[in-house]
Amino acid sequence: MFSGLKKDIYAVRDRDPAAPSAFKVLLLYSGLHAIMWHRPAYWLWNHGFKFTARALSQIVRFCTGVEIHPAAKIGRGVLIDHGSGVVIGETAEVGDNCTIYQGVTLGGTGKETGKRHPTLMNNVIVGAGAKVLGPFTVGEGAKIAANAVVLNAIPEYSTAVGVPARVVRQHGKKVVPAEKLDQVHIPDPVSQEICKLYMEIDRLKEELVEMKTEASLVKGRGTVEDGGGIPSDFTADS
Ligand SMILES: CC(C)(COP(=O)(O)OP(=O)(O)OC[C@H]1O[C@@H](n2cnc3c(N)ncnc32)[C@H](O)[C@@H]1OP(=O)(O)O)[C@@H](O)C(=O)NCCC(=O)NCCS
Repeated sequence: MFSGLKKDIYAVRDRDPAAPSAFKVLLLYSGLHAIMWHRPAYWLWNHGFKFTARALSQIVRFCTGVEIHPAAKIGRGVLIDHGSGVVIGETAEVGDNCTIYQGVTLGGTGKETGKRHPTLMNNVIVGAGAKVLGPFTVGEGAKIAANAVVLNAIPEYSTAVGVPARVVRQHGKKVVPAEKLDQVHIPDPVSQEICKLYMEIDRLKEELVEMKTEASLVKGRGTVEDGGGIPSDFTADS
């Protein structure tokens, strides 16, 4: 238990540049207090003391501004920076070494039942004010930008920004967004079909000329070259 607490304290000290000593972190960081008190609440919830677990989580919310449902699974070394306004839903899962800033919601859309909240794999960063809504997975090492609203799964080691969030970086490389594609100079399907029809007509005309030539040869009435077979004024364009 104490080694777990040590990891949680070091997560703050290592990732928050403003963090003072481990002792001061233990005393002063509301995000850390929320996680510390979530551990016994989680235990109580899973041992049938659901009311007490909920009561404890509400007291912690009152003191820290962080509401973590007692059933939520929170990994080790998780940093909830600045605390206030964070909500983590019942079926949410937060992997090891994730960083969650103020104003983040790991919630449901209101449309699902059962697993309704997201799963964050290890080392995910969720920026201030971001809302991650739904029972999908945010891949390892992904970054959710401040104020993004994430409604779909995010691949590992990618960055998602905006409302609704879209992936703009993956494995450090820029992802070309759809709006940068040329959506003006697109082929006209009607003129393409007309072109195909013209080509087909030309091909049929050529076939007709060949057939008539062959027919006149068979009948022994000469060839196109010597003026027999087909009318002299017939051309492929007629
Ligand atoms: C998203 C973030 C993690 C940076 O991730 P990154 O992978 O390094 O991404 P980049 O900085 O290269 O930005 C990628 C693109 O997203 C854009 N972007 C970054 N953050 C954004 C945001 N919050 N909203 C909208 N667009 C954003 C960038 O302008 C850039 O656009 P471009 O491709 O047109 O140049 C960071 O911008 C962020 O939002 N961190 C949260 C920090 C926070 O909440 N701090 C609170 C402290 S109190």
